[in-house]
Amino acid sequence: MTAVGDPPRPPTPGEGEDAAREERLIEAAARYRENAVSRRSGFSVGAAIEDENGKIWGGCNVENSTYGLTVCAERVAIWKALSEGVRKFRAVAVVTGADEPTPPCGACRQILWEFAGDVPIIMASPNGKKKRFQLRELFPEPFDF
Ligand code: THU
Repeated sequence: MTAVGDPPRPPTPGEGEDAAREERLIEAAARYRENAVSRRSGFSVGAAIEDENGKIWGGCNVENSTYGLTVCAERVAIWKALSEGVRKFRAVAVVTGADEPTPPCGACRQILWEFAGDVPIIMASPNGKKKRFQLRELFPEPFDF
């Protein structure tokens, strides 16, 4: 509680900053979603991963004629970062066109767990709905080897 005459309360570390970083990550995922190669399913997905230095790596789903070789947006994004030598990550955002925010598929949960650990997963829809989980909540009892 701030009484009259007290100096202004210093911001809680990261309070507004965290929200701004999250928004930036969602915006990046939404931009990458525009590049989705998804005419077979009609379901476009964009993902963005923030690394330990604040750099954002984005990806979209890429489908092809075999269907089975489709790669999800989350994996495209993390492959890009890993292949550039990045190994530590802070957060992941996933944007789809669905009314309800869509969580990563099981395969992506495994990959994100292995390479990013227990990061926040932020899901967003174009209608402004958002959901936030720690990966651990979405992927309990993980397979680690
Ligand atoms: N998809 C993703 O990109 N990420 C997910 O986590 C779930 C599914 C893509 C794969 C396919 O291109 C389309 O969504 C429909 O399954």
